[in-house]
Amino acid sequence: MANNCQVPTPRKYVIQMLNYIKYKNGVFGKRVLENSCGKGNILVEIVKRYIDDARRNYIDDEQIVKGMERDIVAFEIDEEETKECIRRLNKLTKKMGLSQVHWNINNKDFLRQPREKYDYIIGNPPYITYHDIHEIDRKYLKEKFVSCEKGRFDYCYAFIEASVKSLKEQGKLVYLLPYSVVKNKFANKLREYLMPYITAIYDYAGIKIFPDAITSSVVLLMENKENKNYVKYHEILNKKKRKILRQNLNGRWNFADDDAASGQRLGDYFEVCNSVATLYNKAYIIHEYTQQDNFYYVDGMKIEKQIVYPAISLKSFNKKKRDGIHDTLILFPYKVMGGQVERYSPNEFEKKYPMATEYLKVYESNLGERKSDENSLWFEYGRSQAINRVFGEKLVIPMVVTNHVSVCRAGTDAIPYAGYFIKRKKNSTMTLDEAKKILESKEFYEYVKAYGTPTTPTSYRISVDDIKEYKF
Ligand SMILES: C[S@@+](CC[C@H](N)C(=O)[O-])C[C@H]1O[C@@H](n2cnc3c(N)ncnc32)[C@H](O)[C@@H]1O
Repeated sequence: MANNCQVPTPRKYVIQMLNYIKYKNGVFGKRVLENSCGKGNILVEIVKRYIDDARRNYIDDEQIVKGMERDIVAFEIDEEETKECIRRLNKLTKKMGLSQVHWNINNKDFLRQPREKYDYIIGNPPYITYHDIHEIDRKYLKEKFVSCEKGRFDYCYAFIEASVKSLKEQGKLVYLLPYSVVKNKFANKLREYLMPYITAIYDYAGIKIFPDAITSSVVLLMENKENKNYVKYHEILNKKKRKILRQNLNGRWNFADDDAASGQRLGDYFEVCNSVATLYNKAYIIHEYTQQDNFYYVDGMKIEKQIVYPAISLKSFNKKKRDGIHDTLILFPYKVMGGQVERYSPNEFEKKYPMATEYLKVYESNLGERKSDENSLWFEYGRSQAINRVFGEKLVIPMVVTNHVSVCRAGTDAIPYAGYFIKRKKNSTMTLDEAKKILESKEFYEYVKAYGTPTTPTSYRISVDDIKEYKF
């Protein structure tokens, strides 16, 4: 099991979640589930509140113990975690003056249990990316959960779906989740499934709940009842809240103010493309070199100048500005004629560029290990994306934006190898300078914050479509 799925919830956020779901008064006699309880960070607070509530209502201790055995249910797949959780709960109940409790805390896989119904479900389920889910589990989840039928789902999608299905009528569920749940296209089915149940979204973008995590979190509140036509949206960092129409929660959930959505689309005037993807930059990107006659000299080898171009990424651009170093170069193993790009056959390439062939052969085994497009040749880039579009005046913009958006201009021959590039569409009435101004505006940065996927407290990943859809 991937160990990033065992990070417990800090107490501060446990308290917030229990408050969001109003797990405080009237909870004695109500069934509550923690379906991936770990060491019990959430359960400890649940048990405390259950006892406090019962005592406020003059329930005697014997009934409280019986109540907890009946009402509080938990699952945990890891045996050591389960034992530690039970030990902590015993310590707590002893301290609160209660006799031995026979806890209904099960060292079992929650996703493979018969379904029971609960009034409250509170949790921070395991997050495991598709890549790390065991093959047997992948197959099982695909069969059992609509949210996992297609694409690269996360293990937590199954937990969310299973939990919603376990809610009693009027039951409430609060879950602490990775932000990708509201943005990732592979969570589309999950979001469709949740839409009728969701009643509040607590957006923790920009707040580091887990010290070592690279993505932000979101807390979702779901209720199994006839819900209003809006969802309460809370932006925790800026202490702002507003209502979002339920019907607007389709596709990726966007939390921007609606008035930001009028105007003209950037994509109507500009093409936005992914950079080239060599899938092994070490072989193609050249940082250190000298030149003489028709050759560049790199690591004691020669490369024909004819297939080498200026390479551009925002990082290399900024470094050049700072250090005044010479340009980064990129080997572009394609035929370029008047801005049009064609492919070489292996024979043609070797004959025309024997030196470049020899140079690339040094990396031949690494190149062979790339997860390349099916028909790409050994000396070509792993993906053919963008190779036909890279030539021409352009802007380069990073995929991950930190603090502000910076954009650089690149000349006709420069080949972007990281981030995205933007070119004027044929007959566009707008210039690249105008696009640069728009992309570096405060408004665009606000849009990135609202529509991008947070990757760190100050960084947001944006997509080609996000840029195209921006209205100015
Ligand atoms: C992110 S931790 C959270 C623990 C606890 N809920 C908390 O908030 O402190 C997720 C827990 O889920 C457990 N887990 C993973 N897969 C599980 C499964 N199929 N059934 C039950 N527990 C599981 C892990 O062992 C881990 O302890």
